[in-house]
Amino acid sequence: MESLRKSLVDCGQEHLLRFWDQLSENERNELCKDILELDLVEVTSYYQKAICTSSCMLTNTLDDKVSPIPKGNIASVKTTNKDTLKMYEKLGLQEVADGRVAVLLLAGGQGTRLGVPYPKGMYNVGLPSGKTLFQLQAERILRLQNMAEEECGKRGEITWYILTSEATHDTTVAFLSEHNYFNLKESNVKTFMQGMLPCFTLEGKIILDQKHKIAKAPDGNGGLYRAMKVQGILDDMTRRNIRSVHVYSVDNILIKVADPIFLGYCLSSSTDCGVKVVEKSSPNEPVGIVCKVDDTYRVVEYSEISKVTAELRHDNGQLVYNAANICNHYFTVDFLCSVGNEYEKEMELHAAKKKIPYIDEDGRRNVPTSSNGIKIEKFVFDVFMFAKELAVWEGIREEDFSPLKNGDSAGQDCPSTARSDVLKLHKKWLLNAGATSVTDDVEVAPLLSYAGENLSHVQGQSFGGPYVLE
Ligand code: UD1
Repeated sequence: MESLRKSLVDCGQEHLLRFWDQLSENERNELCKDILELDLVEVTSYYQKAICTSSCMLTNTLDDKVSPIPKGNIASVKTTNKDTLKMYEKLGLQEVADGRVAVLLLAGGQGTRLGVPYPKGMYNVGLPSGKTLFQLQAERILRLQNMAEEECGKRGEITWYILTSEATHDTTVAFLSEHNYFNLKESNVKTFMQGMLPCFTLEGKIILDQKHKIAKAPDGNGGLYRAMKVQGILDDMTRRNIRSVHVYSVDNILIKVADPIFLGYCLSSSTDCGVKVVEKSSPNEPVGIVCKVDDTYRVVEYSEISKVTAELRHDNGQLVYNAANICNHYFTVDFLCSVGNEYEKEMELHAAKKKIPYIDEDGRRNVPTSSNGIKIEKFVFDVFMFAKELAVWEGIREEDFSPLKNGDSAGQDCPSTARSDVLKLHKKWLLNAGATSVTDDVEVAPLLSYAGENLSHVQGQSFGGPYVLE
């Protein structure tokens, strides 16, 4: 007890024991466990670091430090010739056939904006098939394994790692098991949980959520790197001889998991780190942009540059800061190991002011109506600066990105837009394959076609929805 008290005093956090005398034996044990789980020196230094970054952001925009990605350092599916695209695709499929690919889904977010009480991956946007985001992703993985086998004559298996959080873990695990992992092998689906960080008052004191409980929040999607190390995921990847990992967010209904063209592009550039972007739709689209800050690649949120900079255009009308980050990343396992073992501690921290329920000095629990503290988060893209090289690949919005962020009342990035973007794309696939007409809602099952291939049999046919082409 004495050593615990002393380490708290050393870090200016002795108030955590303020209600010790009022606690039951069990509550005391819980509080001790909560405190001992924290590396106090580390987490209190996090507060200083996060505050520092955030106040820099508040006082200065990054305008005089940013520059767009140099032209030679970004390649686009639109301007790459067919033969080269085919070569990339072959490389990607060979990597799958060799069993060297994993996909890693970031699914620890609470989906606050969408406002459902369950993990976002379980959401069904109302496609004719009624499939959830999880199911669409799993079936694309299965289809990709088949495509790689057809192309290379060898069957490789893709491991699906799923990052969860305290808020999403149990429900996600139960859902996947109830649905028999959507026909993936159970041993190839591995969930693991991100960590939590304590919440701080604006003055740097750790907040008590109960007299015997510290207020904590998930450590952001950049918590991935520590979780992978601590929970043996890096070891698991090494054991499975995986080389290429595609990391993506749960809410993009068009996600091409382990897109073989993107994988092939990264492999042919021998890069350790890659990012897929799409053209930003308008200066105020709420996405981060991939650019350079001084000499390093970064993702800069739209709030970090001024409106004037966000609106800058080239003579041809294209936005200068045009590379929208769609949370779609490539890493080699070697790179992930070096981040986990070495660089993770140096990652930038982001502080967000929030309303955090707290116990006041008189022991009463309060739910504040304005921001009273900060939550600290790490971001998945904040490892670009540790890479030897960053490969930037530009995809096509209509084929690569339609995020589900909001409820339908928002009118954008919502269930209706996600549904209609999928159906529009599938209609295009069918017409390109020679269908004579496609009316209403016609969906192509991922097990049939991953990206518009394998549809020659639709030639001359017409389709009316709601209908699922299996
Ligand atoms: C993210 C990107 C942003 C990009 C946008 C595109 C980050 C930090 N920001 O923003 O640059 O333009 O997507 O849609 O990546 N997640 C966790 N644990 C957490 C928090 C989030 O696993 O603690 C997961 C979510 O479940 C989701 C993904 O990370 O799959 C992205 O999180 P979200 O909060 O939706 O990010 P955005 O703010 O939309």
